[in-house]
Amino acid sequence: MANFRDIIGAFKDKPGGIIEAYHALQKEYNYIPKGAVAEAARVFGISEAQAYGVATFYSYLATEPRGKYIIRICESAPCHIAGADQVIKAFERHLGIKIGETTPDGKFTLEFAECVGQCQETPVVTINSVPYVGITPEDVPAVLDKCR
Ligand code: FES
Repeated sequence: MANFRDIIGAFKDKPGGIIEAYHALQKEYNYIPKGAVAEAARVFGISEAQAYGVATFYSYLATEPRGKYIIRICESAPCHIAGADQVIKAFERHLGIKIGETTPDGKFTLEFAECVGQCQETPVVTINSVPYVGITPEDVPAVLDKCR
């Protein structure tokens, strides 16, 4: 795993580099570690509060550790109407966590998503950005088995 100092350093001379650095950090660690926010503040010459503000402004950036598998359930209108709520409940029940939480073994995180452009077959779930379409509550165990 790359050192977060090296990752941030690679973007230090780019305009808007802090956002790109955060993306690269999240790709490497699945979230932005606290120490990395402090390092970004130092490298980009802003306060830690500002660096933290940037990290928490964008919903797709996470500042808490997340699971190996990030399960995002689309909650935009077409998926909502197609029963996304029931799919969310099924994931919560099978994993024993609520939306926004990570399983204690660090394997799964449940999150809301907005439309991911796959509305032709709703509801839609993505796991580590791979879309699964037309998911029903009954499909949830099989979807989870693919990750186990
Ligand atoms: S509304 Fe869910 S994928 Fe478009």
